[in-house]
Amino acid sequence: MRALDNLTPQVHDGVARPEYLADDVELQVGDVRDAAAVRRALDGVDAVVHLASRVGVGQSMYEIVEYTSANTLATAVLLEALAEKPVRKLLVASSMSVYGEGLYRARDGSAVEPPERTREQLERREWELPGLEPAPTPETKRLGLSSIYALTKYDQERASLVCGAAYGIPAVALRLFNTYGTRQALSNPYTGVLAIFASRLLNDREPRIFEDGLQRRDFVSVRDVAHAFGLALEHDGADGSAVNVGSGRSVTVREIGEQLAATIGKQIEPEVTGEYRVGDIRHCYADIAVARETLGYEPRVELAHGLAELAAWLEGRVPDDRVDAAADELARRGLAR
Ligand code: UD1
Repeated sequence: MRALDNLTPQVHDGVARPEYLADDVELQVGDVRDAAAVRRALDGVDAVVHLASRVGVGQSMYEIVEYTSANTLATAVLLEALAEKPVRKLLVASSMSVYGEGLYRARDGSAVEPPERTREQLERREWELPGLEPAPTPETKRLGLSSIYALTKYDQERASLVCGAAYGIPAVALRLFNTYGTRQALSNPYTGVLAIFASRLLNDREPRIFEDGLQRRDFVSVRDVAHAFGLALEHDGADGSAVNVGSGRSVTVREIGEQLAATIGKQIEPEVTGEYRVGDIRHCYADIAVARETLGYEPRVELAHGLAELAAWLEGRVPDDRVDAAADELARRGLAR
């Protein structure tokens, strides 16, 4: 097995080879935008799992060139190389962010695909979408690309499926929901909310909850995500399509903050700030019926167990808490209020 990774400092903190990387993984340090590095990495390879991506939604709104380059352009470089030398399978990590708001139901039970909340609604602290209840989001939901990050993840997804079809490479895009687990980059303030909350708690500071904390997400263990990739490599049921990978359950941000604090053993109440991030969606969690049917996917890690594993890994770590600096950066640019 071979990995091509640029070990970006925001995630890897200057480490040359992550200590958790299995001995039999050959690490090539290089950038997917570098065609020569990609060709070298593809030499003798039979399947490609394309995970390379910049992942900060907020950061993508001002580092627009970097995100478009690292995500969209890099995928184009990879696909040109694959067009020359097709492989047995191409998997690409897409994201729930392509949906924007999740699916909702009106009081009469009909499905509703609402637009993003307006800035005015958010300024009035009207967090919920009036008259609507959140529902699991299926792959058929209309997309709502509301950040540069989401746009570039969709680029990665579509470009891979389009070129896969054109060059006879079975390709699958896995739309990952909020993925958490050990080995997350805790000091990266643009990573997911669980790593951010963990970083705060380990520094004995209260997690800061945006809006009222009742927004719902689908937290899926990285173990289940890895399992889904494994299934997609082996099975052909999802070839040519995009598939949700989630836990099939939803939980509020407030619950996740409280549960994490309890699991880590810190008596720290999260602070509900009533602030908001521009472009944040209210609710989105996965309908995983397609992954079940096409890949035989079944989530195996219960949230409580996943959090316990995370807590055990966190023990003794005091990450550099850069959350306030990142929040200031967003606020300075008018991207958080
Ligand atoms: C976004 C992306 C997702 C990406 C993930 C991590 C969207 C819709 N989704 O998810 O594809 O994988 O980022 O890059 O763009 N929150 C707090 N306090 C904090 C941080 C976050 O309350 O300190 C709240 C947010 O307001 C949000 C929830 O936690 O309601 C989840 O935020 P986050 O982990 O950043 O992920 P998403 O925005 O769901």
